[in-house]
Amino acid sequence: MALLGIDLGTTAVKALLINESGETLASATVEYPLSTPQPLWSEQDPSDWWRGSVEAIRQVLGKSGIPGSAVRAIGLSGQMHGLTLLDRDGRVLRPAILWNDQRTAAQCQAMIERAGGPARMRALATNLPNPSYTAPKLLWVREHEPHLYARIAHVLLPKDYIRYKLSGEFATDVGDATGMALLDVRRRTWSDELLRLFDIPRAWLPLCAESHVVTARVSQAAAQETGLAAGTPIVGGSGDQPAAAVGLGSVREGIVNVTLGTSGVVFASVEHYPQMQDTAIELFCHAVPETWFLMGVMLSAGGSLRWHRDVIANGHPALASVNHNGDAYDALLSSAATVPIGAEGLIFLPYLTGERTPHRDPLARGAFVGLTLRHTQAHLARAVVEGISFGLRDSIELMRALGLKVSEVRAAGGGARSAVWRQMLADIFEADITLVNSTEGGAFGVALLAGVGIGLWRDTREACDAVIRVTSRTAPSGDSAVRARYAEAYARYREAYPALKPLFSRLCG
Ligand code: XUL
Repeated sequence: MALLGIDLGTTAVKALLINESGETLASATVEYPLSTPQPLWSEQDPSDWWRGSVEAIRQVLGKSGIPGSAVRAIGLSGQMHGLTLLDRDGRVLRPAILWNDQRTAAQCQAMIERAGGPARMRALATNLPNPSYTAPKLLWVREHEPHLYARIAHVLLPKDYIRYKLSGEFATDVGDATGMALLDVRRRTWSDELLRLFDIPRAWLPLCAESHVVTARVSQAAAQETGLAAGTPIVGGSGDQPAAAVGLGSVREGIVNVTLGTSGVVFASVEHYPQMQDTAIELFCHAVPETWFLMGVMLSAGGSLRWHRDVIANGHPALASVNHNGDAYDALLSSAATVPIGAEGLIFLPYLTGERTPHRDPLARGAFVGLTLRHTQAHLARAVVEGISFGLRDSIELMRALGLKVSEVRAAGGGARSAVWRQMLADIFEADITLVNSTEGGAFGVALLAGVGIGLWRDTREACDAVIRVTSRTAPSGDSAVRARYAEAYARYREAYPALKPLFSRLCG
């Protein structure tokens, strides 16, 4: 017997089959294109998602050698926020507008004004709308493509388009729905008030369910196309971030997870709805009932290190003998470890693509501050890795300010492989950094949710406890001098952005 997790990413879809012990049977990844028809735009063709998904499902079944009828349940995950519009015959009306599309700054502002200001907007939608979210995209279509707007019958999120193609059903989950900015996040239901305020018909929205709940079943037609069995249940699933968190066992208050990919995400479960202040931390429904998550997003985490490797460290003696990507990062991190904490007064701001958390500032820019003749390549590398780590600590501090107690930070993503970086994070976050045995990400998380949906486990926490184990733990240094030096360097880092902010705005003008 097997559980299938599908993760519809921005560059590729991944299909993963696991057994009831959480072991991977097979996985398959199929890529698809992304188009940028105008500056700031980012779109994908939903038919590419479906073609890719069918191909990935067929491949994963083929590789595992198990028949489609052995797949007992399916979980869906994927890129969040993307606007997918269908007419009343279920035909796609225009390319999907993705989470990283930046065209809707004016609509976000208009939504806040329409609500009567930021405080009222927060009271209704929990988060202030940002250009990633779905509702501003819908309002953009209303303004700029009224002929298409008039034909809308269904508004779906990316992974829910796959559900529709698999089953003919229109459904989503509470976490992905949060990212539309039309949900009452505290009550975990569509908000009639928001829908009225922005004049959006409720009938356009799918059924909104908890993540483990069975929402649909594979249709005869989809069974034929994919090789799955007709009638296979499909649970609500979740967006990529909460799904990945389930895959790491980050489902209880106190366990935080940090993903060090191109972007850096700090994610924390909370078991009550917190009082949200004016903060750059976002709050969503988690894939676990009566649980929410706080999220901070650093736009260029690993992205800053990659930039450093490609643009600055070219010619660094430590890189002379390596050409493989991973080795180059290891070499940079090892050389960073040869210079003192604080890189002898050198600060790096990692805002190479603006910032989402903690500054919510698209005009923020990267910077090295404090360069002297004394500084070497190793100092530059150290400053970059410290700058990324301090930026992530900013999110953790904002969460602590909301009352979160952090007992453990689970690290994932490429950067988590480095022992040097994990020690630095433990010292900077003042928390244990752990690794777990599961590395399959969101597809694994929703495969577990699928198992919960069919009663294999009592609930999602039990599923995580059954299959996820901590495999490595890095504690903060016992040396109080180390902690003091990091505290001092972090305080300097915190001063740099406010000092440079006016200049950043002028540089962009
Ligand atoms: C979450 C977010 C990303 C996208 C794409 O708010 O913007 O995680 O889901 O990965």
